[in-house]
Amino acid sequence: MTGTACRVCAAPLRTFLDLGDHPLSSAFLTPAEALDGAGDTVRYRLAAGQCERCALVQLTGDVPYERRPHQGYPYHSSGSAVIREHFRAAGLHLLRTELRGARGALAVEIGRTDGVVLRTLADAGVRPLAFEPSGRCGYGAARVRPDFLTAASAREAVAAEGRARVVYAANTVCDIADLPGLFAGLDELLTADGAFVFEDPYLGEIVRRTAFDQFYDEHRWYFTATSVRALAERYGFRLTGVERLPVHGGQLRYVLTRAGRRRPAPEVAEVLAEEEARGLTAPATLDAFAGRVERVRGDLVALLEALRAAGRTVAGYGATAKSCTVATYCGLGPYLVPYVCDSTPAKQGRVTPGAHIPVRPPAAFAAPYPDYALLFAWNHADEIMAKEQAFRAAGGRWILYVPEVRVV
Ligand code: TYD
Ligand code: ZN
Repeated sequence: MTGTACRVCAAPLRTFLDLGDHPLSSAFLTPAEALDGAGDTVRYRLAAGQCERCALVQLTGDVPYERRPHQGYPYHSSGSAVIREHFRAAGLHLLRTELRGARGALAVEIGRTDGVVLRTLADAGVRPLAFEPSGRCGYGAARVRPDFLTAASAREAVAAEGRARVVYAANTVCDIADLPGLFAGLDELLTADGAFVFEDPYLGEIVRRTAFDQFYDEHRWYFTATSVRALAERYGFRLTGVERLPVHGGQLRYVLTRAGRRRPAPEVAEVLAEEEARGLTAPATLDAFAGRVERVRGDLVALLEALRAAGRTVAGYGATAKSCTVATYCGLGPYLVPYVCDSTPAKQGRVTPGAHIPVRPPAAFAAPYPDYALLFAWNHADEIMAKEQAFRAAGGRWILYVPEVRVV
C-alpha cells in the first residue's frame, strides 16, 4: 500500500487517525451537478500518520490532487476583518525584523494570498513579489510569477530581480507536496542571511482542541516545532525562530535561516521543551486524540438528532473546508443541517462537497433565524458571534464542537 512511508524521509508511518473516505474539500457543486453525480465521485481516504523517524505528521491516503476543482476566486482572508488585520500585522512584523533598514530589498510571498502582506511591505518601500501557480493574487498580476517556488523558478526570479531578504508563506507550506523542491527554491532565492518565515496550523493546538476538522486534503503536513526543526536541518536550514499566533484555531510561525548563520531565539528551545514535556509526538498522545475525535462525533450526531426530534431548526454557519471533514465523518446532510450560510459569493447557490448541503448568503441567516447554528467557522467565532449578536438576542444558540460539543 502506498502512503505508509514518510513522504519526506521514507521511514515508516504510524497511522493514528482514520476518518474514512472523503470528497475533496473544495468540490462545491451546482445543484445540477449534485443531482447527476458528475464531479462528485472523487473520494480519498482521510487518514493521518506520524513518521517514526522525523516525527512529521502527514496524510497517509493518496489524494487525487489533480482532480481538485479550480476555485474560481482569489483568497480573501477567509472573509474576515480579523484575518486581514493579522496579515497587516504580519507585514509590519517583517518590516521590523527581517526587513529592518532594507528599503528596496526584495520580499517574496508564496501561495494564494489576498495581497495584504505584500501591500504592507510595498507601502514601506520593499519590492514585493509573489509565487502562485494560479497567477491569482490580490496584490495584482504584475508582480506574480505563475509558478511554484522551485530551484528553476527561483533562478529565473533571481536573474530578473536579485535575491530575496525574506520569503513568507501563510497556510501554504502545509499544502506543498514537493518539500525538497521548495527548499531547493529557497536556497536559490534567499540571500545568505535571508529568512523563510511561514505559518500554518499547529498540531499542538489541533491536539489540544481536538480540532479534527483541520484534517482535510489541502493540509498534507501537520507541523510541530520538533518536526519543522528536523525538516529544516534535512535541507541545510535551521529553525531559529518560532512565534505562537492566535488565528485559525492556533498556529505557529516558524523562522528558518541557513545553517550556521543565526543562533536560535530562546522561544525555540521553549516550544521544543514544551512539546517534549507534553509528549506531543508520542503515540499515546495521538491515539488519545483520535479517541476524543470519536467522542465528538457521537456527541454531535446525538445532539443534532435530538434537536431534530424536538422540532428545532438548525443551520450551519461557514461553509469551510473544515466543515467538509465534519459533515463527511459525522454523516451530516441536509436532513440534520438543511443549509449553511457563508459570505463567499462563489460558494453561494452551490452545495457542499459530499454532504450536498445548500450554501446560502449570510442574509438568509436571519430570514428567519434558525433555533440553533452549527458554527463550522469556529476559527472566526468571536468575529461571527459579534456580527450576529441579533441571533442570540432573538433566542438563537450556537453549537460548537471544538474542543467538545456544547451549546452557547
Ligand atoms: P476559512 O477560515 O478559510 O476556513 P477553511 O480553511 O476551513 O475553509 O473559511 C471561513 C469561511 O467562513 C469562509 O467560507 C467564509 C465564511 N465566513 C462567513 O461566512 N462569515 C464571516 O463573518 C467569516 C469571518 C467567515
Ligand atoms: Zn520522516
